Amino acid sequence: VPETRIALIGGTGREGAGLALRLSRAGFGVVIGSREAGRAEEAVRRLKPQAGVGRLEAAGNGAAIAGCDVSLLCVSFAHAADTVVAHRDAFRPGSLLIDVTVPVVFDAGRPRFVELPQGSSSEHLRTLLPGHVALAGAFKTLPAHLLADVEAPLDCDDFVCGDSAESRARAMEIVGRIPGLRPIDAGSLDAARVLERMTVLAIRLNRRYKVHDARFRVLGV
Ligand SMILES: NC(=O)c1ccc[n+]([C@@H]2O[C@H](COP(=O)([O-])OP(=O)(O)OC[C@H]3O[C@@H](n4cnc5c(N)ncnc54)[C@H](OP(=O)(O)O)[C@@H]3O)[C@@H](O)[C@H]2O)c1
Repeated sequence: VPETRIALIGGTGREGAGLALRLSRAGFGVVIGSREAGRAEEAVRRLKPQAGVGRLEAAGNGAAIAGCDVSLLCVSFAHAADTVVAHRDAFRPGSLLIDVTVPVVFDAGRPRFVELPQGSSSEHLRTLLPGHVALAGAFKTLPAHLLADVEAPLDCDDFVCGDSAESRARAMEIVGRIPGLRPIDAGSLDAARVLERMTVLAIRLNRRYKVHDARFRVLGV
């Protein structure tokens, strides 16, 4: 079976680093994307010692997207929409974009949720993507710090929403291959409104309890 390759758009950041390591350890090929291919190469060099059997590669964001059937959007929220618009034509027909972004900005270190007219970052991005690209939201409540601490068990749930049952199923299959992570089907894309706000709760809990790894587990499901 050929290895599934996943592009990490803006994979040079904190969330991207953790996702690259966990996905590579789950056996996926990972293409770390950046606005500057050199920065992606540097990230690959830095992460390689902790990577798994899945190959780590580097590319510019456009080439990473064009080379994979699945991409993860890992850029900072402020640049998510512009990045998707800039690379609209690079997505393969029938490909899946998994949106990891959360509309939070930090004012003097304090998290502030950005209210969007579309309801959520994922729903906003849906309006910008070509129709032939499927969209799911996942990994939104997973702390970068924990993802990058590869020996630490994730031991939590990951909520997946999507613009179709098929988009969700494709994203859930990827989530479910990461050890310690249970995919939870949160339903249609508007569930991102709830999930993105849950991330704010996790950030607040981290601060209040002076921890880095607050995350979620659903009981009764
Ligand atoms: N940190 C967390 O714990 C966490 C948890 C859940 C979800 N998320 C979400 O994951 C995403 C990434 O978070 P992060 O903490 O990894 O962010 P980050 O480290 O601040 O940034 C990620 C990447 O965004 C790219 N970027 C910066 N400015 C850009 C621009 N003007 N245009 C295009 N790309 C730009 C950079 O890549 P290049 O400079 O290489 O192009 C950078 O490495 C965010 O949307 C965040 O809401 C984060």
